[in-house]
Amino acid sequence: AVNMKGRSILSLMDNTPEEIRYLLDIAKQVKAESRAGIRHQRFVGKTLALIFEKRSTRTRLAFETAFAEEGGHPIFLSIQDIQLGAKESIEDTARVLGRMVDAIEFRGFKQETVEILAKYSGVPVYNGLTDLFHPTQVLADLQTIEEEFGRLKGIKLVFMGDGRNNMANSLMVGAAKMGMHYVICSPESLRPEKWLVDECMKFAKESGATIEFTDNPDEAVKGADVIYTDVWASMGEEDKAAERRKLLQPYQVNEELMRKTGKPETIFMHCLPAVKGEEVTFEVIEGKQSRVWDEAENRKHTIKAILIATLL
Ligand code: CP
Ligand code: NVA
Repeated sequence: AVNMKGRSILSLMDNTPEEIRYLLDIAKQVKAESRAGIRHQRFVGKTLALIFEKRSTRTRLAFETAFAEEGGHPIFLSIQDIQLGAKESIEDTARVLGRMVDAIEFRGFKQETVEILAKYSGVPVYNGLTDLFHPTQVLADLQTIEEEFGRLKGIKLVFMGDGRNNMANSLMVGAAKMGMHYVICSPESLRPEKWLVDECMKFAKESGATIEFTDNPDEAVKGADVIYTDVWASMGEEDKAAERRKLLQPYQVNEELMRKTGKPETIFMHCLPAVKGEEVTFEVIEGKQSRVWDEAENRKHTIKAILIATLL
């Protein structure tokens, strides 16, 4: 049986497919409870520190509401509020937090920071987005895909655009672990780093997943079950926005591209926030094939699942 008590969620790279399955099963259960109006008090007496170096709507709200509605006390800490790597080392901050709280969420720039927090705090640490990964988003995405198609294995998921950002990377990890058919469609200069592709190829071998890279949108989307995109310039890359607009225009998800899948049942996904008119057109994100609001809701259910699995 799977037991994740005390574990951190840093990248999903060190989680087995069985553990991801376990989290998705709990998420399904808590979503059903939520729909039925059933409330539990699972986190009474517990505290959760939420550290944000970057802005957030969904991730912060999902952690705060999932934890607080079950009696837990979330503590929001922006970097204006605490010493983190400036006047106090990350290691020292981690050790202090670990003496006081039951778990820590971190959103920020470096993956290394969330790893140091996990190593030195001694409590579960959740990666709420770094430059490299966004694992809790991928859990919500997997839940959304499974709700739509009833399975993950063999589902063709095509990521369009900046194939080197945290979402492209993390979807590759999730898809590789869960036996999906993952395609990154991007310019060659925006593919994931080689070490990460190599790791994911190993996971794919175990699960039966396939991972492909192409710069040809028409080829990429053929037979796609899911077309996914994300902003062309991520948080921290604001200076690259103009250059990316030019480079990535051919990778925009529009109605014409959605038709090229050859499947009316293809869905559109986006982690949000979106820049309508850039990576996706208004018609697609607001259209019948879009599942972005379910996907956003599922952030809360999957995050509650992580909290249950690692804290109880
Ligand atoms: N998808 C996502 O992480 O949204 P926020 O940046 O609003 O948290
Ligand atoms: N790639 C985006 C995701 C936001 C949820 C960013 O890092 O800004």
